[in-house]
Amino acid sequence: MAGAFLSDIQTLRKRAREHIAQGAVTPGYHADRSVVLKLLNEALATEIVCVLRYKRHYFMAKGIHAEGVAAEFLEHANDEQGHADQIAHRITQLGGEPDLSPDTLSSRSHAEYVEGNTLEEMIKEDLIAERIAIDSYREIITYLADNDPTSRRLMEEILAKEEEHADDLANLIEELPK
Ligand SMILES: [Fe+2]
Ligand SMILES: [Fe+2]
Repeated sequence: MAGAFLSDIQTLRKRAREHIAQGAVTPGYHADRSVVLKLLNEALATEIVCVLRYKRHYFMAKGIHAEGVAAEFLEHANDEQGHADQIAHRITQLGGEPDLSPDTLSSRSHAEYVEGNTLEEMIKEDLIAERIAIDSYREIITYLADNDPTSRRLMEEILAKEEEHADDLANLIEELPK
């Protein structure tokens, strides 16, 4: 019987009418909102630091192999900005505030901002940052589980993209002359 796993319609309707100011956050939201907001803000900081690092690498890429690599850096920078915007939007949907304070950005980010000197160093640092993001996003997804499927789905989409980025970078390193 449906009632065994689904709240009955009257209960659902009654709950939806309460706390309307909380918007998308209904009484059926079972995740710990403060923890989810903290995790999403850490992911946001990670994305912004990645935007900045990729932008730096884009402008600094020099040498005979730089052109294709720089184009890849720029593409990734734009992807990370897109992720940052999606995460910030989700934070406000959950009634939180996106923390974009530049003073604390790099300490809240999981991935690091490393400038790197050569093209190869830049690609390696980007690959390391992607691998950090991949592991931390996977943990966030595991935490979100069925408690906040919308945030989980968003982070799953972003994780898939970070895996693509890591793969792109690994291929770039392969293509560099030894
Ligand atoms: Fe990203
Ligand atoms: Fe990425």
